[in-house]
Amino acid sequence: EIKACLFDLDGVIVDTAKYHYLAWQQLANGLGISFTEEHNELLKGVSRMRSLDIILELGNTTLADDEKMKLATQKNEIYLSYIQRMKDDELLPGVKEFIEEIRNKGIVVALGSASKNARLILKQLHIEELFDAIIDGNEVTQAKPDPEVFLKGAEALQVESRSCVVFEDAIAGVEAAKNAGMACIGVGDPKNLSEADQVISGFEGFNLKQLATFLSDKN
Ligand code: G6P
Ligand code: MG
Repeated sequence: EIKACLFDLDGVIVDTAKYHYLAWQQLANGLGISFTEEHNELLKGVSRMRSLDIILELGNTTLADDEKMKLATQKNEIYLSYIQRMKDDELLPGVKEFIEEIRNKGIVVALGSASKNARLILKQLHIEELFDAIIDGNEVTQAKPDPEVFLKGAEALQVESRSCVVFEDAIAGVEAAKNAGMACIGVGDPKNLSEADQVISGFEGFNLKQLATFLSDKN
């Protein structure tokens, strides 16, 4: 029985992945490191500092910690300049309706994001009140694929892992859900998300009945 749904933010609720990409690309280019959309897949769901490390590794570059802090701050400033212009219509199609539907049917809902900007983004999009619990990058110490973010979400909702379903667009996020012992619906391209129990391309037309069918097929 499904009692709780946990949602990743970037790439599941809102397409901020493109802004993360643009900001990282701008930073990488400044360092003379070429950074493609394919590389960007590796950064999805990954914390800000770890993302920077991956980019530096791509460019065979090592930097002192204080340099890295500066670069991470710089990336976030670029990112925030995009986020601050974001409008409600950048919510991914159907996701708000889906969350409203499941909440009406008694399912509790948490956000489980690695982003330190998560609350700001929810406010900007006027959807903070859709969540019974919010766990973000300020509350976790272990990045996905560690299950911490989802385990904390389940704890806040007081639901056992086996009654939780996670929605994720990132490889690391799907692994985190599996590591938490939760069912996982991948959102996006099935070729990146083969570890998920099912993959949907988006929430348009998706409903609780379909979700229940997916999960009962699995058992
Ligand atoms: C999400 C995104 C990542 C991002 C991370 C940290 O998991 O998928 O691309 O790096 O959050 O976000 P932040 O807003 O704290 O830099
Ligand atoms: Mg994501």
